[in-house]
Amino acid sequence: MRLGIISALYEEQLGLVEAMKGPAKLIHGKREYWAGKLWEIDAVCVLSRIGKVAAAMTATMLVEKFGVTHILFTGVAGAGDKTVQVGDIVVAEALVQHDMDASPLFPRFEVPLTGLTHFLPDQQLSLRLSRAAHDFLEQDLETAISEGERREFRLLQPRVHRGLVASGDQFMADPLRLNALNAALPGLVAVEMEGAAVAQVCYELDVPCAVIRTVSDNANEDAATDFMRFVQSVAAQYAVHITRRLCRD
Ligand code: ADE
Repeated sequence: MRLGIISALYEEQLGLVEAMKGPAKLIHGKREYWAGKLWEIDAVCVLSRIGKVAAAMTATMLVEKFGVTHILFTGVAGAGDKTVQVGDIVVAEALVQHDMDASPLFPRFEVPLTGLTHFLPDQQLSLRLSRAAHDFLEQDLETAISEGERREFRLLQPRVHRGLVASGDQFMADPLRLNALNAALPGLVAVEMEGAAVAQVCYELDVPCAVIRTVSDNANEDAATDFMRFVQSVAAQYAVHITRRLCRD
């Protein structure tokens, strides 16, 4: 296995590169790719930047230039449903591009000429990821995240959700738009800006992938502030500890 790990934000990637043994930096396509060992697994970490095109380009390069056999996307997301709270973890069971709409030529959400609205991540990798997320919440959360931070973000009993993740080139910060999307996409648990693009690339290149997101905000009027606070304080801890458990177990 050679695992490509994509994050969209610097803060989410920092801990992973720090944890790498013998990291070698390669610059390509205006991105830094860090290749090395992550807890005995051959890995390449890269910052995609934000949005579907950036993520698709990065996933393609990981496969075509860096020879990864599996791709993991780790980052934060807005809650896609009222049952999902800040600090919860979402593992994608399916991914959809919510801003794809070529109707009436093709049904809403269908990626033209693929016949698909939903892209499916690898079941085995996603299952391992869910287990790693559960173990992180049960065994590492208290030591990894300070009591002050747990209080600040109300991380009382964070949960792991499996469900539909919707990606689009929009930061979702409007409850009306979110409600409309939630109604149009049954099973929606999170909204973000990259996962479904990576899933499409992986589908087309026959590479197994998985997407895990920590919920940073409720995709409402406070989303931008909540997102910034969450990313700057605790998001990195989630990413590092979950990835460590994934690679080790
Ligand atoms: N990533 C984190 N929060 C998000 C939101 N509200 N919309 C889109 N992407 C996000």
